[in-house]
Amino acid sequence: MRLDKFLSSTGRLTRSQAAKAVRGGEVTVNGAAVRAPDCHINPEQDEIALRGELLTYRRFTYILLNKPDGYVSATEDGHDPTVLELLPDELQRQNLFPCGRLDKHTLGLMLLTNNGPLSHRLLAPKSHVRKTYAFTLREPITQAEADRLSRGVWLIDGAGERYLTKPCRITLDAACTSGTVELTEGKYHQVKRLFEAADNKVLSLERITFAGLTLEGLPERGQWRHLTAEEERALLALAGKQD
Ligand code: URA
Repeated sequence: MRLDKFLSSTGRLTRSQAAKAVRGGEVTVNGAAVRAPDCHINPEQDEIALRGELLTYRRFTYILLNKPDGYVSATEDGHDPTVLELLPDELQRQNLFPCGRLDKHTLGLMLLTNNGPLSHRLLAPKSHVRKTYAFTLREPITQAEADRLSRGVWLIDGAGERYLTKPCRITLDAACTSGTVELTEGKYHQVKRLFEAADNKVLSLERITFAGLTLEGLPERGQWRHLTAEEERALLALAGKQD
């Protein structure tokens, strides 16, 4: 693997920052400064250090994104911009895909990764991974109605079968037209259909947590960042518990 590619895969530097750091003598391979960004290294065996700090190789990439309005959760789309297009070229070349879907007009937290098995485990129905959405509604909803919805409603699934949603937690704000809902499953348009079951309508929706991850450090729509090492460890541990 090229040295600059390895450096950018750690999430510490962009590809161009990596090349600059290498040319500036800030990077050592097995203790010796190397000044060619295209020098080939073995990420499993060589010891690479940046300004004296040893870097660990990450086999997979995990990106957290604050999804803006109008982007689709897909790797390509003939019509609308995709969430992948919000990432720089070097990340777009890493075969990332969204771990789960948000509707085109849903905002907020989205995990992108190239770790297929992990994504599969997190999204498996039996995994019960928690996700929280902040919503606003067209009309106020009573606490009693919210309680009824949170016990489960009947929906029709993709195969035309009736499906009872799992219990969820709905918290209402004082005006009862907004709040949060915490789900442990991810059916198509689930939050919208949940409130439709009370003859209401979701006017805006934002995902604020997913699998223990939050939007911390991503205050603006369209912003992204790598998972911290701690977040990555927690995510892998959570996915490991799903079987
Ligand atoms: N529920 C919805 O209705 N839409 C989303 O994007 C996510 C959950």
